[in-house]
Amino acid sequence: MTISIRKGALLTEACDLLVIGVFEGNVDKDVASLDALFGGDVRKLLVREGFTGKQNERQVFPSFGHSPAKKVLLVGMGSRADFSTDMIRRVGGAAARCARTIKATQVCMSLIGAGVRGIRPEQAAQALGEGLRLGWYTFHTYQAPKPAAAMPEVTVMVEDRSVIRAAEKGLARAAVLADATAFARDLVNTPSHHMHPGKMAEVAQTLVTRGRIRCKVLSREMMEKMGMGATLAVGDGSAHQPVGIHLTYTPPRAPKRRVAVIGKAVTFDSGGLNLKPEQGMTTMKIDMAGAATVLGLFKALAALNVPVEVHGLFLAVENMPSGSAYRPGDIVRAMNGTTIEILNTDAEGRLTLADALSYAVAKVKPDVMVDLATLTGAAVVALGDDITAIMGNHPATVKGLREASVRAGEHTWELPLFAPYDEAIKSGIADINNTGGRSAGTIKAGLFLQRFVGETPWAHLDIAGPSYCEKETRPDLPLGGTGWGVRTLMEWLEQMA
Ligand code: BES
Ligand code: MN
Ligand code: ZN
Repeated sequence: MTISIRKGALLTEACDLLVIGVFEGNVDKDVASLDALFGGDVRKLLVREGFTGKQNERQVFPSFGHSPAKKVLLVGMGSRADFSTDMIRRVGGAAARCARTIKATQVCMSLIGAGVRGIRPEQAAQALGEGLRLGWYTFHTYQAPKPAAAMPEVTVMVEDRSVIRAAEKGLARAAVLADATAFARDLVNTPSHHMHPGKMAEVAQTLVTRGRIRCKVLSREMMEKMGMGATLAVGDGSAHQPVGIHLTYTPPRAPKRRVAVIGKAVTFDSGGLNLKPEQGMTTMKIDMAGAATVLGLFKALAALNVPVEVHGLFLAVENMPSGSAYRPGDIVRAMNGTTIEILNTDAEGRLTLADALSYAVAKVKPDVMVDLATLTGAAVVALGDDITAIMGNHPATVKGLREASVRAGEHTWELPLFAPYDEAIKSGIADINNTGGRSAGTIKAGLFLQRFVGETPWAHLDIAGPSYCEKETRPDLPLGGTGWGVRTLMEWLEQMA
């Protein structure tokens, strides 16, 4: 998709699709000039259709009168008082969806939202670019023939030449971030027989750039030598060998901070011997979404010249039942020496993260670290499909990530690492157990992870809900993998510097 910005009058521009955002309760004013051009019928049409500008309302109609546009899309933006860059993303997504449906190749719109509630042209352009690209995303790798890719050319028309430079900067950032998000989405959407641990390592290696990004691959043998017994146990049932990945991004100038970003990388989670039921298993190719986000982040890092040193880590395994699978009752030892009694082989994510966090603490020694994991069904029960659960041992890190997520239009909510619940993960026969019982599952998983972070400032993001979209709720979020976190992490890293 190409998105360009140009000074000119929006309504007199020839195009296939003219997109206009309309505030709730302001329909008359927002379509006044359109009405003048069309001959006074738009308002009548909207009244007839009951269009009032509510969020997510859409109205497509062929243009008439003196309009050079073929079709018009009006998108409801809700009330002006609630407006934010997130609404701009939604409008962008709606425009992209509509362009696909009506096969529009020339799309025109204004720099929607610039100036509203203090939103700068650069921010508006970035959000619009993100929405357009993220809404256009589809995953057709496994469909033949692939739907014709008549990508629209979008022209953003502005009245004032002075905003063009800033807006172009925003659009350029949007292109990098949306492409990185789409990259993560593709990895999540690719089925597990193709996105197995070895493949994840291959993908990581494609991200290496001379000078900026290095990639170290940890073989099964190396993982064994380092004592990653928890991760190796999870992988024991699979025909695919586990593999560890350690990516390093070095900024152009000497960095002040070193950050580790760790992703859960279970390429398929069958549950192991504690086999999942059908409904629980069908989507479990997504259980490497945390690592996909790390890979997406690395795709964007070099392009945006982030000034901190970033380490991306994941231990890729497949959780399968077989004659060689690990069992309930087994006791495994993680890299930091902690012994873990396995009560449920389906609580495997925390086992792989135990080693990944231990590795980060011992080998990377970061100033701060974050992990992202599709860790617990309980997080989906607590916060649903749209909100990531965040926990941590360092309030400033949690706060920084939460603020970054708001700017990125991704949502988080903090859960407490409530110390008394730590009782539940104790074991009579090992240091800890891997489940903690039914209640407060997300918190107990967080407390489990805390055992492996030592004093390092750390936050844990349980993305079990938002990593995957099963039912569409917004136009910039097509079905399937979402790439949740790529933009939040980038915002966070840039803010830190
Ligand atoms: N990968 C799952 C969590 C999950 C569930 C992610 C639904 C996305 C959607 C994880 O490995 C798991 O199975 N967790 C168990 C833990 C339990 C056995 C303590 C769960 O949540 O049921
Ligand atoms: Mn599981
Ligand atoms: Zn899992």
